[in-house]
Amino acid sequence: MQVNGNPFRSIWLSQEKPEVLVIDQTLLPFTFKVRTLSTSSDTALAIREMVVRGAPLIGATAACGLFLAAVRNASETHLQHAYRELLSSRPTAVNLRWALDRMLPLLLEVPESGRADLARELAQRICDEDVATNSAIGNHGLTLISKAAKACPHRPVNILTHCNAGWLATVDWGTALAPIFKAHDQGILVHVWVDETRPRNQGASLTAWELAAHGVPHTVIADNAGGHLMQHGEVDLCIVGSDRTTRSGDVCNKIGTYLKALAAHDNGIPFYAALPSSTIDWKISDGVRDIPIEERAEEEVTHICGHDSEAGKLVRVRIIPDGSSAANPAFDVTPRKFVDGIITEKGIAKASEDDLVALFPQDAETQKI
Ligand code: MRU
Repeated sequence: MQVNGNPFRSIWLSQEKPEVLVIDQTLLPFTFKVRTLSTSSDTALAIREMVVRGAPLIGATAACGLFLAAVRNASETHLQHAYRELLSSRPTAVNLRWALDRMLPLLLEVPESGRADLARELAQRICDEDVATNSAIGNHGLTLISKAAKACPHRPVNILTHCNAGWLATVDWGTALAPIFKAHDQGILVHVWVDETRPRNQGASLTAWELAAHGVPHTVIADNAGGHLMQHGEVDLCIVGSDRTTRSGDVCNKIGTYLKALAAHDNGIPFYAALPSSTIDWKISDGVRDIPIEERAEEEVTHICGHDSEAGKLVRVRIIPDGSSAANPAFDVTPRKFVDGIITEKGIAKASEDDLVALFPQDAETQKI
């Protein structure tokens, strides 16, 4: 995607040095800054502190982290240590495990002297494949938007999305936003309702920034506004991303997604999740029971961060009484009965084991429960 007229991915490998470059997402939308990651520990920290975030990007970043580990010391002990450190950086997005499991066994098969080169090649491949995968998700999701546009030829299709599942959450294109970018590029009129997505406001800060940069009409709404808009015919379609989806089609995504799916169900509005197959956890079936939900720091709820235009800097202020505590579960699970379909790189599946296995028979077979 473009930033100020220049093409950018959210992560890339330096051509000159064994370094990885990322866009610092903690500073957007007010400051655009590129950060350099030099070690696998830097990389794990960048994932933990959400300098990079979004399930597919977390996977790609972990792959790059394993490359940095192999550059420093390609022994099996060191790579296993880096694997564990990266894997523990965030618990919910399964793309992290997917990327590391794809790389480590291949690295250990070759002599130590060849591991850094191979790690670079594999990390680059994971990044490039992510771009192609998300573009394919965009093409499949576009068919839904085109269909919705035919039903309302004289006004834009109103799409609600939650959190950030745009290009910043992946290497490029995004998942939920890929069909929206493609629809807009084709001249289909779209308007996006952007859930602000407390507590970290990825919708208000990142999704709104991406849509504005691409010229896509959008409106940021408070998280609690979606149900009201749906009751009043203001939403035609919901598309969200996912951090982990079970083989049976339960969709885990940013906290608050479940409530939007309930409201969509009550109002007969189609609710879709867009995700690459690397987000499907074939080893589990019951999302509510089996998906580990990240519990993040209380401070993300007790405080809010914003830009003080007079002081020209980011400020963080407390918004709840000093004596009150807060809880901060970062994700929730939308049971498959509330999901109308799953948009993948191979097509749109029903949220059911039969449909998902039919699209990805090999993955389903090799990663049985
Ligand atoms: O906590 P985050 O910002 O990493 O959560 C991101 C989301 O929940 C996204 O919706 C999800 O990763 C899908 S990304 C294409």
